Amino acid sequence: MNIYEEQYRLLKHNGAQAWAGEGYKRAHQQLAVILQELKQRSILPSPGASFLELGCGNGAMSSQYMAERGYEVSGVDISQTAIEWAIERFLTLGLKGHFTQGDVCHLKQLEADSYDVIFDGSCLHCLIGSQRELCLAEIRRLIKPEGTVVISTMAGKPKKPEDLRDFDADNYHLMRNGRPWRTLKPLTLLEEEISKQGFSIIYTDLNHNPWWDHATICCKPS
Ligand SMILES: C[S@@+](CC[C@H](N)C(=O)[O-])C[C@H]1O[C@@H](n2cnc3c(N)ncnc32)[C@H](O)[C@@H]1O
Repeated sequence: MNIYEEQYRLLKHNGAQAWAGEGYKRAHQQLAVILQELKQRSILPSPGASFLELGCGNGAMSSQYMAERGYEVSGVDISQTAIEWAIERFLTLGLKGHFTQGDVCHLKQLEADSYDVIFDGSCLHCLIGSQRELCLAEIRRLIKPEGTVVISTMAGKPKKPEDLRDFDADNYHLMRNGRPWRTLKPLTLLEEEISKQGFSIIYTDLNHNPWWDHATICCKPS
């Protein structure tokens, strides 16, 4: 079974609110600050615009935030349990959203040039090696010509000693059980990687945490 499917079954069984588990409130507050800032800077379009979250999980983070503010929300996640949970959650909250199970590296079921905003729901840093290029190419295909892409991702080196021990600095991989688990690149390399896939960066923010930093990189198709 896919590790994410396994994790969501466990989270749901344990009555968690979302992927972040006990850290949900903090993570949601941090996200709200970022999304408010992007709205204030007119990086995000007005309500009514189409919004796709990649790695939407159970929909409790940016999908819910944007749906509550009148955006036309869609989400995709590799975990079927997460998608069913997102659908249930939106029904209970009386929100509109369209959630489908899928792999962000292969989104052929979604039409090109369809979204005003594509938001990386902390999914890109879950991708390893060539998966990243595939995902960025799908984002480039799906975003409208005037649309905005927001990449929300772990950045820099991990800071906790136990994570530093598990960090393969040559490949920028944080390892778990002997396997690459997360990609953590320095901000400049992240920006280079995104630009190389046909995007112009319009705004970057780096949030410093005691565990690792988190970057928000906004870009438009170039
Ligand atoms: C760090 S979690 C964040 C979930 C959600 N955005 C949130 O903030 O609660 C990353 C999400 O990406 C999903 N994911 C990982 N790899 C994926 C892939 N290749 N395709 C689609 N979703 C993926 C996981 O199932 C998980 O829901």
